[in-house]
Amino acid sequence: MVIQSTSPIIVVANRLPFIVGKDENGKPVRKQCAGGLVTAVAPVVVETNGLWIGWPGVFLEDNLEYIPESSPNDKSPTAGLKSEQVIPVNLPRDQFNAYYNGCCNATFWPLFHSMPDRALFQADKWEAYLSVNEEFAKLTMLAVRRVIAKEPGVVPLVWIHDYHLMCTANFIRSACEAEGITIKLAFFLHIPFPSWDIMRLFPWDDELLQNILGCDSIGFHLEDYCLNFIDCCHRRLGCRIDRQRMLIEHNSRTVSVHPLPISIPYERFESLSKTAEAVVKNNPEEQILLCVDRLDYTKGLVHRIKAFERLLEKHPEHIEKVVLLQVAVPSRTDVKEYQELKEELDMEIGKLNGRFSTPNWSPIRYIYGCVSQEQLAAFYRDSSVALVTPLRDGMNLVAKEFVACQTKEPGVLVLSPFAGAGTAMLEALQVNPYETELFSEVIHRAITMPKDERELRMKLLRKREKERDVNFWLESFLKSVNCYTKTSDSENRLM
Ligand code: ADP
Ligand code: G6P
Repeated sequence: MVIQSTSPIIVVANRLPFIVGKDENGKPVRKQCAGGLVTAVAPVVVETNGLWIGWPGVFLEDNLEYIPESSPNDKSPTAGLKSEQVIPVNLPRDQFNAYYNGCCNATFWPLFHSMPDRALFQADKWEAYLSVNEEFAKLTMLAVRRVIAKEPGVVPLVWIHDYHLMCTANFIRSACEAEGITIKLAFFLHIPFPSWDIMRLFPWDDELLQNILGCDSIGFHLEDYCLNFIDCCHRRLGCRIDRQRMLIEHNSRTVSVHPLPISIPYERFESLSKTAEAVVKNNPEEQILLCVDRLDYTKGLVHRIKAFERLLEKHPEHIEKVVLLQVAVPSRTDVKEYQELKEELDMEIGKLNGRFSTPNWSPIRYIYGCVSQEQLAAFYRDSSVALVTPLRDGMNLVAKEFVACQTKEPGVLVLSPFAGAGTAMLEALQVNPYETELFSEVIHRAITMPKDERELRMKLLRKREKERDVNFWLESFLKSVNCYTKTSDSENRLM
C-alpha cells in the first residue's frame, strides 16, 4: 500500500534522516543514525516524494554542504530519499551547540520529561534557540517557494517536528502572509508534553506557547499530553479552549490538537526477523533479557541494573541461566549529564559482573554502539524477555519493534507505565522502574512465565501493533490535516 498526501509534505526536523560524513577517501557519504523520529518519518517522506529540512550532522566550518546520494547497498529507511529532496541547515558550530546542547538537550529534554532538577535555564541559550529556529524557518520558505514554483496553486503541508523547533511556526506564518502564500502548518511533538506545574518553571513559557500556537494543527502521542498543552494555553495565555473537541482559540484563529500515537513499520521488522541471521550464539540453556536504549537518563538504565542485581541475589537459580544484554547507543555525548550517566553505568555494570560472574559466564553483556536494524531484529527475535523500563518516555518504539519481531518462540515484554507505549500495550507485564524489589520479581515472573500465557499475551500485543503501525499513524495525521488520500499498489501501477 502506498500512502499519498493531497499536498506535498515538507518535513522540518532538527536532523536530516542521515548524517553526512566522509568515507576513507574523503568522499561525502550518508551515515545512518538511530532515533524514533527518523525510523518513523523517513519512509513517509520517501513514499510521498516530499522534502526534508534538517541539520546534516556537520557544521558550516566543515565545508561539507553537498548532500550525497544513498549508496546502492543502502537498506535503511532513507535509501529512497534523493539528494534533491533534502535541504541541509548548515550552521556555525558555536551557534548550533548553544541551541542543541545548551537549550534543546539541557533545558527542554529534561523539563518535558518532568525532570526539572536536571534542567538549566539560560537566557543566552534560549536566544540561540530562537535564532536557529528562525534559520530553519528561512530554509523552509525556500522549500515552500520551490514546491509552489513546480506546481502553481498547490498548498504545501509543512510538518514541523519535535522540541528542537517549537518556535519556527510563527516565522514561517509571517513570511507566508507577507508573500501571499497559503500553506498548512502542522507540528508533532515526539516527547511528552508536561503539566502546567512543570511548564511554568520555564521562564519564557508564554513566548514558547504562542510560538507553538503558530501552527494550525498540533499532534502529541497521547491524550494526556494534548490535555496538558491545552491546559497550559488556557492558564498561561488565557486562551479560550474546548477540551472535549481539543480546540484552542488564539489570535482569532482556531488551532486543533490531536492525539496521534506514533508507531513502527511493523511489517519491515517482522520480515527482517524472519530472515536475519542469529547474532547471539544459540545456547538453549541460556535466556537473554534484552535492553535496547539510547544512553539517556530518561531510559532508567541504572535502575534496571539494580533490579537485575536484586534478582540474582534473591533467585540464584538464574545464575548461569540468564544474561542481560544491554545495547546502548551513544547519545548527546557533549552534554555533562550524559557523560556522567555513561560513567555511572560502566561502573554499575562492572560492579555487578565482578560480583556474580563465574569462569564461564557473565551476567551482563554490554554493547555500547549502534547496530543495524537486521541485527536488532535478530536480537529481538532471539531474546526471551525485553526490559523496556524508562523513567519517562514519550512513546518508546523499542517495545513495539520487539513485539513485531516475535516470530519464533514468544517472549515476554516488560514495560514501564511511564512510557507512552504503556498506555495501549496492556498485555505487557507492567513494572514501576523506581521500585527495585517489585521490579526484580517482575523479571523473575517474565523469565518463568508458562508458554501458553506468553503466547496469549504476545498474540494480542502483535495484533494491535500490526493494525496500528506507522502507516496508521501517518494516515491519522493526514486525516487530521485533511490531506489524506489512499492509493493501492495496483492503482498506483496503472498511473
Ligand atoms: P528514542 O526516540 O528516545 O531514542 P525510541 O525507543 O522511541 O527512543 O526509539 C529508538 C529507536 O532507535 C528505535 O527505532 C530503535 O530501533 C533504535 N535504536 C535503539 N538502540 C539502537 C542501537 N543500539 N542500534 C541501532 N538502533 C537503535
Ligand atoms: C528522540 C527525539 C528525537 C531525536 C532522538 C535522538 O527520539 O524525540 O528528536 O532525534 O531522540 O536524539 P538526538 O539528540 O541524537 O537527535
